[in-house]
Amino acid sequence: MYEAKEFNLSRLNGISDRTLEMHFKLYEGYVKETNRLTEAIAEILEDGRVDQEEMPAYSELKRRLGFEYNGMVLHEYYFGNLKKDGGEDPARNSAFLQAVESSFGSFDLWKADFTSVGKMRGVGWAICYLDPLHGQLSNHWVTLHEVGNVAGFVPVLVMDVWEHAFLLDYKPAERPKYIEAFFSNLNWQTVEERLSAFASTIPTHSISHDGKESSI
Ligand SMILES: [Fe+2]
Repeated sequence: MYEAKEFNLSRLNGISDRTLEMHFKLYEGYVKETNRLTEAIAEILEDGRVDQEEMPAYSELKRRLGFEYNGMVLHEYYFGNLKKDGGEDPARNSAFLQAVESSFGSFDLWKADFTSVGKMRGVGWAICYLDPLHGQLSNHWVTLHEVGNVAGFVPVLVMDVWEHAFLLDYKPAERPKYIEAFFSNLNWQTVEERLSAFASTIPTHSISHDGKESSI
């Protein structure tokens, strides 16, 4: 059984405590539902089989599991990459910047791509993933919680762009303002920690902002 994690987040820049409190409750709902579904599936399996008449209910529970599991896990990544007084750009010699420069050419290009994914119409997430085998970063749109996650890739930076993430603080059309606020609260140290286990896969050459290739 999963337990909801506590996140020590308040007084963020541009994301109100009211939003955070409501969002924590939503997250707790995903944890509860993940546990409930897991239990319900275990009950069906108790006699060691899924009978024909149990199949429709079993199938529905299994389909929903992807939604609830990803809803739980992605919120943990999201809250985990925010902090009060965050938001400074990543350090020049950080693994994240090396990976970004290798994958996108520059931090600015990476950020333009990531924020544009975040502005896409629809309900979902913008996620920067590490390909752990090749050390490359790529930004992806995930619809709802489960459509578009890349198998085996590691989420290193996760931004919730469901309307509940910003609607108490901004108008529906003001998602770009929320994205700016998100960046101003970013905990780059967490991002760096998520990358650190795979640092050896990240290419060790880098292209600087003036376009010159150099060794690190
Ligand atoms: Fe959310």
